[in-house]
Amino acid sequence: VRRWRWRSGARGAVAAVAVAPTAALVAGCGAERGAFAPGGPVASDLDGLFWLLTGLGAAVLVLVIAVLALAAVRSRGRTDDDDEGVEGDVSERRSRWLVLGGGVVLPVVVLVPLTVVMLMVGVRTSNVGQEGDVVIEVVGHQFWWEVRYPGTDVVTANEIHVPVGRPVHLRMQTADVIHSLWVPELAGKIDMIPGEETELRFEASEPGELLGHCAEFCGLQHARMRFLVVAQPPEEFERWLTEQAAPSPPPATEAARRGEAAFEAAGCASCHAVRGTAADGDLGPDLTHLASRRTLGAGTLPNTPEDLARWVADPQEAKPGNLMPAIPLSTDQLQDLLAYLEELR
Ligand code: CUA
Repeated sequence: VRRWRWRSGARGAVAAVAVAPTAALVAGCGAERGAFAPGGPVASDLDGLFWLLTGLGAAVLVLVIAVLALAAVRSRGRTDDDDEGVEGDVSERRSRWLVLGGGVVLPVVVLVPLTVVMLMVGVRTSNVGQEGDVVIEVVGHQFWWEVRYPGTDVVTANEIHVPVGRPVHLRMQTADVIHSLWVPELAGKIDMIPGEETELRFEASEPGELLGHCAEFCGLQHARMRFLVVAQPPEEFERWLTEQAAPSPPPATEAARRGEAAFEAAGCASCHAVRGTAADGDLGPDLTHLASRRTLGAGTLPNTPEDLARWVADPQEAKPGNLMPAIPLSTDQLQDLLAYLEELR
């Protein structure tokens, strides 16, 4: 009895070890966000393909295990003598059919249609450069995203605005190392490779904000290299584009005017551009409409006045290892600078 108990206890432990990771994995499948909650046709195609491959793979696995189990059960207690005579001939013929069926017929029947489906999905999802696509250029930097809209003056950072229901064609480059752009709800991930242009096509079906990540380790702050895809109704997107194309308005208050001078004097302008002013640096994000963005430091902080103050006073505190140095400023200078930056709407 004791032995039986130990055995059932051990079996329970083995079952728990086997089931726990599966349960954790399956729990992730019900997520409201992520690759299993597609937000557009490309992601839907990929999601469908995933379940098709997983389902077929599971069916083949079950079949193979069943055949193995059957063979183990039936060979129990048999001797070599059983393989001789008429019975032996029958069993050999059956084995031959099993090998032919499982080794040739089944793979052909399963893999040929699967290859066709995969090629179709591949062609559909990578069909970039079609007429009517919204073309957007994205440049990966350590550790942020530069976003440009060709044909306009719009340059922004860490936010890719797209119109709902229209295919988007991303043309991607990197300014330094390999990055990888990934918005799980919209499409697969595509690397940005030095010296090359890579492309991605997706479409957002619903308005909303989707989180994107860098999916290739690119340095100390790889984990804080996020961005947002902001899917907007077409007319709202056009309005946004027009606003973003405009240069920054001249500072309205005395403090902001002093802040603009401090921006020049402290050297901010050698890394950042503010269109409509003398600031035309291109190492850091374009700040022309900084205050209209949702986050700071590529998704590191929300873009609130308090967090902007925290970021400017010491960029290394919230995101150690990012390429923006802390610039020594007096409290008054910092206040003026913030007043200026808050006006860049
Ligand atoms: Cu860029 Cu990781």
